[in-house]
Amino acid sequence: MKNLKYCLSGLALSVAASVSQAAEVEVLHYLTSSGEAAAINVLKEYLGESGHTWKDFAVAGGGGESAMTVLKSRAISGNPPAAAQIKGLDIQEWGDLGFLTDLDGVATAGKWDTLLPPVVSNVMKYDGKYVAVPVNVHRVNWLWANPEPFRKAGLGIPTTWEQFLEVAPKLKEAGVIPLAHGGQAWQDATLFEAVALGVGGPEFYSKAFVDHDEATLKGAEMINVFKTFKKLRDFIDPNASGRDWNIATSMVINGEAAMQIMGDWAKGEFTAAGKKPGVDYVCLAAPDTSGTFTFNIDSFAMFALSDDDASKAQGKLAELVMDPAFQETFNLNKGSIPARMGMNRAPFDSCALASMDAFEASSASGTLVPSMAHGLATTSQVQGAIYDVVTNFFNSDTSAEDAVETLARSVKAAQL
Ligand code: GAL
Repeated sequence: MKNLKYCLSGLALSVAASVSQAAEVEVLHYLTSSGEAAAINVLKEYLGESGHTWKDFAVAGGGGESAMTVLKSRAISGNPPAAAQIKGLDIQEWGDLGFLTDLDGVATAGKWDTLLPPVVSNVMKYDGKYVAVPVNVHRVNWLWANPEPFRKAGLGIPTTWEQFLEVAPKLKEAGVIPLAHGGQAWQDATLFEAVALGVGGPEFYSKAFVDHDEATLKGAEMINVFKTFKKLRDFIDPNASGRDWNIATSMVINGEAAMQIMGDWAKGEFTAAGKKPGVDYVCLAAPDTSGTFTFNIDSFAMFALSDDDASKAQGKLAELVMDPAFQETFNLNKGSIPARMGMNRAPFDSCALASMDAFEASSASGTLVPSMAHGLATTSQVQGAIYDVVTNFFNSDTSAEDAVETLARSVKAAQL
């Protein structure tokens, strides 16, 4: 297994020589699982080798909700970190509040506009200026499968919801948990958005979660989405409530469960466990979503700092994130694909290459959609409203017909 740990490169040594005044850079993030920690450690090492000091401000909790709560209290008290894992439309919200600093000097010097696809660079800018730097592009609409339970039961791994609903009961009868899941709102929403994309398609998905079209939110198609979503309750285990996503991934790794529908940060867990795609696990587009790509971009937004040396160190961090060697090693560990274009594909495995191909194909065909569950499609207010409707529906006997009425009403109210 190639040692994915970042090793000191000539670049890092040369960069160290260019540092005027070493400074501390405090970074808030929520990358605490095995795969995530391996990835963020690459950035820590990079910054250390450039002569500055990384002050770790890790707040565990999948999806980042806890981290964002802590960040808000730090910012409101006038003591924000230098950088924070902020992504999607949250960047605009922090920009509106006047907390972020402008990275255009670093971005222009580094020619970021030529290195990033517009779908990525647009998310990083507030008022036309870069205020954040992207570390990756995650694909969210993935199904991760352990092939062993399927082989033993003589079943194929499902590529459609019809096939999923056929094989899941048979896996359950064979004593295997068909679908590993963590009963947390963000995970319910991640599963829900995969069903919405598969059942309704990319156009329906965007009309619902980007445009907030009322007729789409409460129409027959959305009722069908909720009905399919509720059927999945029969295929998760009774101990799913509150389970962290990476524990669910470990259930697929050890064969206790057959599948997980989760973004490719899950692949970082397989990698950290020394597992190989195509041998120990299989990656497939979530049912009925082949050819589409739900994107989720992790990024670090930079806060305005009064100290000049700290600001310079902050700029150095942003510069390092866009370095190709960092983009390669971080993403090999994280399970995502580089945000930077034109990267060498050779070090990446079959799942990453499939993601790269799907990103390019879906960008060209208009089937690339922003993740609602991970903050790329809509505001945190609307996302929160959808989270509540979806997780309450999944954990109650609410009808699909009632759920769509509540969904349309809640999304409308969240935009007031
Ligand atoms: C996502 C984030 C990923 C990963 C995942 C689980 O929102 O973009 O990098 O951290 O949550 O926490």
